[in-house]
Amino acid sequence: MIVIGSDHTGIELKRKVISHLNSKEIIVKDVTDFKDQTGDDYPDIAYIVCKNVLKEKDIGIAICGTGIGISIACNKVNGIRAAVCTDKYMAQMTRKDNDANVLCLGARLKIENVLSIVDEFINTEFAGERHQRRVDKIAKIEKSQKDGVEYDNSL
Ligand code: RB5
Repeated sequence: MIVIGSDHTGIELKRKVISHLNSKEIIVKDVTDFKDQTGDDYPDIAYIVCKNVLKEKDIGIAICGTGIGISIACNKVNGIRAAVCTDKYMAQMTRKDNDANVLCLGARLKIENVLSIVDEFINTEFAGERHQRRVDKIAKIEKSQKDGVEYDNSL
């Protein structure tokens, strides 16, 4: 299952992504299917998407105008590794190297092949090995912040 959500700027793109994924028989959970999204705030959307990603133990797609604001907010949620991607290479590498679990897209960027970015993200596996150590260190930074202690980079 893929979790998806957008702020008011990304409603159209969100629908496009959902119908693309549905056409591939991929189950999508739209967590921002609200009647009125006038003036909503991307941090609130980020939080809803991320909580659902953690609950479903799967990946998510979060959309705002640039993808930047929502990615900043997503990355404040423990356990989330969100990445704004503007091309397929970024989507591939952030899955392979960073084990990103949220793809952030910018609805106002008018990227031509935006659906190919989505496909690349959902079809690429985390490479593990040395990258696991680095991803573990991200979790260690999160934990040190939570515990109010300095980050210790030794393993
Ligand atoms: C909303 O107008 C806009 O600020 C938001 O969608 C996003 O682009 C923020 O980074």
